[in-house]
Amino acid sequence: MATVNQKLPATILVIFGITGDLAGRYLLPALAQIKVDGQAGPGFRIIGVTRRDVTAEQILDTQDQSLVGCLSVFKLDYNQPDDYRGLAEEIEAVKGQLDANAQVVFHLSVPPDVVPVVVSHLGVAGLNRGSKLLMEKPFGRDLASAKELISQVSKCFDDNQVYRIDHYLAKEMAQNIALLLGSNAVFREAWSAKYIDRIEIVAKEAIGIEGRVGFYEQTGALRDFVQSHLLQLLALTLMEPCEDFADLEALPGRRLAALRQLKADSSKAVRGQYEGYRQEIGKNDSNVETFAWLELSSDSPTWHGVPLVLATGKKLDAKLTEIRVYFKPVGASQGNTLVLQIYPKEGVEFDLWVKEPGLERKMKKMPLNFYYQDHFDRLPDAYEQVLVDAMRGDHSLFASAEEVTASWEILEPVLEHWQQNGNGLKIYQPGSPIDKILD
Ligand code: BG6
Repeated sequence: MATVNQKLPATILVIFGITGDLAGRYLLPALAQIKVDGQAGPGFRIIGVTRRDVTAEQILDTQDQSLVGCLSVFKLDYNQPDDYRGLAEEIEAVKGQLDANAQVVFHLSVPPDVVPVVVSHLGVAGLNRGSKLLMEKPFGRDLASAKELISQVSKCFDDNQVYRIDHYLAKEMAQNIALLLGSNAVFREAWSAKYIDRIEIVAKEAIGIEGRVGFYEQTGALRDFVQSHLLQLLALTLMEPCEDFADLEALPGRRLAALRQLKADSSKAVRGQYEGYRQEIGKNDSNVETFAWLELSSDSPTWHGVPLVLATGKKLDAKLTEIRVYFKPVGASQGNTLVLQIYPKEGVEFDLWVKEPGLERKMKKMPLNFYYQDHFDRLPDAYEQVLVDAMRGDHSLFASAEEVTASWEILEPVLEHWQQNGNGLKIYQPGSPIDKILD
């Protein structure tokens, strides 16, 4: 597997969509940090591809200045084969200055419909040979389109060249789940339907769609969040845990095995839309959901009968991401709760039942909590991890093609059910708690 804990090899990172929101908000700050940390040395260059007339200075104007001298801009029309030949020459020129053996990593930060166009032109220009391709979700909008996208990409790039980003997999706490469950005896034996009553994974956002009108109208909460982030967190929670760092190589296969055993109960699925969404996007009849709630079950004997709940939404009462594991009551307790918290703090909360001091005979639930931020200076951003892993060639925190299709297979019945049953939407007030929407 990957060569971890070592500096990055000489790399030319080619970012398609360098002037976009994703590059500005996530990629460039993460790359600046990678540079500041010394992971990327002089053998690292970024070519920012865009259709616009813009300079590297203008792009970096609002960014950390550590990327000055590292970024150059290449103007390209996505549909023009000649422009890709020009890009190939530019890459060769940068290799000439840097290192003839520098690896080339393409990051596609472009609208979904542009992805197949760019990929096929990269293939025609021969830029697929020996390079890597980093892709952002959405990976299709249903099972058929996901398969189509995978097949289009596979015409130019072998699967081991492709890195499908799900930045939730790279969040520190998400990375911790497999090892935490595999390396603490207290969880090993209790991690099954025998002791666990219910698992809930919630990702609430307080923000709305933040101007991403075109994108969100094509996706909605189920496709944007559940298909990727929430199903991956669920897979990490249910899969065979990792006992060692060496086990991490097996992560995609173990997540896939967990995903393949999941079924969603379409009849219980709930969709909602926040009041004001239609005015915001200027479409009075939009049926797109900004909230989704699902109950799933697993066919695995380990998880037989355990309700698995996923919920996400925009403009809810808070920004919060957590995995709540409710244990069955044993002895004098009413059941422990383990919270694997991803946001606002990354850490683990556990409720312990203890005897309350005093002459009365009473049990009380007391907290036993750990938060990364209280003990470690800095947690790398998920995008730093994703970019470094792709440059190192470590696939463990990326979604494989099989995982992508397995997660669409889980959601396909829900999408069909919603379509056949008139897309019933619950309109909720911005700032609502989940319970109120489900009422
Ligand atoms: C993205 C979704 O994948 O994740 C966005 O497309 C969402 O809709 C974002 O806002 C949330 O990410 P984070 O890391 O801020 O929780």
